[in-house]
Amino acid sequence: MTKIKLVKSDKKDLGQMAEILASSGYIISKKKHKILKNMENLFSRKDVKLFSYLLKVDNNYRGYFILAVKNKHSALKDMALDKRFHGKGLSKKLLEKAIAISEKEKCEYIELTAHRKNFRAIGLYNKYSFYVIDLLRNSQPDGEDTLRMRKDLSK
Ligand SMILES: CC(C)(COP(=O)(O)OP(=O)(O)OC[C@H]1O[C@@H](n2cnc3c(N)ncnc32)[C@H](O)[C@@H]1OP(=O)(O)O)[C@@H](O)C(=O)NCCC(=O)NCCS
Repeated sequence: MTKIKLVKSDKKDLGQMAEILASSGYIISKKKHKILKNMENLFSRKDVKLFSYLLKVDNNYRGYFILAVKNKHSALKDMALDKRFHGKGLSKKLLEKAIAISEKEKCEYIELTAHRKNFRAIGLYNKYSFYVIDLLRNSQPDGEDTLRMRKDLSK
């Protein structure tokens, strides 16, 4: 039987997370060193409370998310699964944990941004009642638009 576990992660796991993002088939392909740099910046921010988790499938890390909490709201900064593990319901484990942390931190809402053509991710977010609050035109590296999405949380 497959063993699935969420494991708290931190700065020392950044290489692992960058590797997962690189293997996730993310809509915009980025070089691993660029991914790492962006993540490092996030982990060195002092103005947010950061939560990050790795998803372990049997003995291998296959997914992760990074959540930032500030001023009674949270932002899902990053979430990805190794492409070979898409379509197995594992994304729900990641997203539900990020939502549960946000609720525990008494956040009023959780926000994220998504490439407008990232239909898989947007489909998932819609399923969890995220709605579009803004459209940032031409804001993606490929010139596409970004959706800002929010989910209201129960108090
Ligand atoms: C986003 C990501 C984590 C989702 O994981 P996943 O395993 O692919 O998602 P799932 O197959 O479990 O889909 C979850 C839900 O999304 C919806 N969905 C899946 N594929 C979809 C598609 N092509 N179009 C619309 N909705 C879709 C479905 O509602 C599905 O739920 P269901 O299986 O109960 O019907 C994963 O695709 C990924 O790592 N992508 C690359 C990185 C990325 O884009 N991260 C998000 C940045 S905003």
